[in-house]
Amino acid sequence: MESSYLTILNRIDSRRAKISVIGQGYIGLPTALLLSSAGYRVVGYDLNLGLIDGLREGRHHLVDREPGVGELLRGELSSGRYAPTHDPSDMDGSDVFIVAVPTPRIDGGEANLAYVYSAVREASARMTAGTLLIVESTIPPLTSEMEIVPFVQSETGMELGEDWFYSFCPERAFPGRLLYEMRENDRIIGSLDERSAHLVERLYGSFVRGELHRTHVRVAEVSKLVENAYRDVNIAFANEVALACAALNVDVESVISLANRHPRVRILRPGIGVGGSCLTKDPLFLARAAGREGVNLELTTTARKVNEAMPRICAEQVLKIMEEEGVDPEGAKVAILGVTYKGNVPDIRETPVRDLALSLSEAGARVVVYDPMSTESFGLPRAGSLEEALSGADVIILGADHDEFKRIEPERLKRMVGGKSRVILFDGKNALDREGFERAGFLYAGVGRPKRQRVTSRAGAVLPLALTGDLRT
Ligand SMILES: NC(=O)c1ccc[n+]([C@@H]2O[C@H](COP(=O)([O-])OP(=O)(O)OC[C@H]3O[C@@H](n4cnc5c(N)ncnc54)[C@H](O)[C@@H]3O)[C@@H](O)[C@H]2O)c1
Repeated sequence: MESSYLTILNRIDSRRAKISVIGQGYIGLPTALLLSSAGYRVVGYDLNLGLIDGLREGRHHLVDREPGVGELLRGELSSGRYAPTHDPSDMDGSDVFIVAVPTPRIDGGEANLAYVYSAVREASARMTAGTLLIVESTIPPLTSEMEIVPFVQSETGMELGEDWFYSFCPERAFPGRLLYEMRENDRIIGSLDERSAHLVERLYGSFVRGELHRTHVRVAEVSKLVENAYRDVNIAFANEVALACAALNVDVESVISLANRHPRVRILRPGIGVGGSCLTKDPLFLARAAGREGVNLELTTTARKVNEAMPRICAEQVLKIMEEEGVDPEGAKVAILGVTYKGNVPDIRETPVRDLALSLSEAGARVVVYDPMSTESFGLPRAGSLEEALSGADVIILGADHDEFKRIEPERLKRMVGGKSRVILFDGKNALDREGFERAGFLYAGVGRPKRQRVTSRAGAVLPLALTGDLRT
């Protein structure tokens, strides 16, 4: 009789394998569609009834937001290979289960694995000899070895590497470029046995053009968290550099771009804070895991604190500029353009704009938010159009660097504000054309980009203007 391994290998290679992707969000939906377009029958399972009903009609929050997702969804639905469902029994008979459900963080930085465990339970209840289970959801180190694998073994009585197969394959695709990155990025395949690794290699090889790297499952779990901890630490450093630049009256953008000319320096960009579902929790999962082994990750946890403090620090900087310019925060209109955590995506998870907006509102300002990509307003008034948001504004803050905002001509922005002779423009993403807005009469400041002024430093030096590195300024 053919072994379970050869059976599933053959089904994967011949594209006859039935695949269930559990969770149809940012990661699960594109993954399901790419596998379906590679020729597999794919069940896209999600608990969210509204989401599944929408998917069946070609609707999903990623459609029109993520390049290619709308066309791919329509194509795969009409091919009959992709079937969205909220009925778990539709997953019966699957050869492969892929878990792509959320891993939120509990206060204190611990991972909430309830969704992952519930998805693993759904899969495990349907696993028969020759099934492959892949976890794409982010999980803390040791979760595969201590929890998932022992659970499936005890539930099914099957032996890993003989009767069933398991890998943790972390996802690193970036919202806004999900389909492109899922195809082009290198992938890590974390396994406990060679056969599992080989099966995933064959399956992902059906749509991934990047390199597939096999490793031990724990290495994969740790490297996923390290990738995001690295970026968070780097951004925290950029933010600290920005604070130093603001204090020393030099422009951080000039400083970082010059520092990055050093062949071994690569500093990321500062901003009003770090958002999104991954960078805000993965470093803490890493610190928690190391902490349980008695090791304190001082730098990683401090970086988180630095980034978490940025929205409130930026709000204080805005209030300080208002005070210096004689704008009383009480009742002043502050228009915040963009609420999402980054540009050109509708994702508001952990967005730093929330704390920034609420701090200014607490200080008495009349905060109005506007975002063409999201209806979120943090309980504050939301403008229905850019014109409505800007009309009569005393302060404008760029919260998210959507292309729509970056393309606005300074003169047009000025006309939309109307009347006011001098308006404060705080560029929370350092994405706007400073000189252009200054020429149009705005008082421009950004994160680590102080407004132009002559100041005397504590050390007594006269610091002329916000030095941008241009010797003419
Ligand atoms: N979004 C990203 O950019 C990104 C990048 C890399 C890794 N990740 C990781 O991928 C995982 C998924 O993230 P996401 O952004 O796709 O989440 P998401 O919130 O967009 O989607 C998750 C979906 O899972 C569904 N769900 C929850 N529990 C379920 C269950 N038991 N059965 C069926 N469906 C269930 C939810 O209804 C939701 O639609 C997380 O662990 C995340 O950390 C995300």
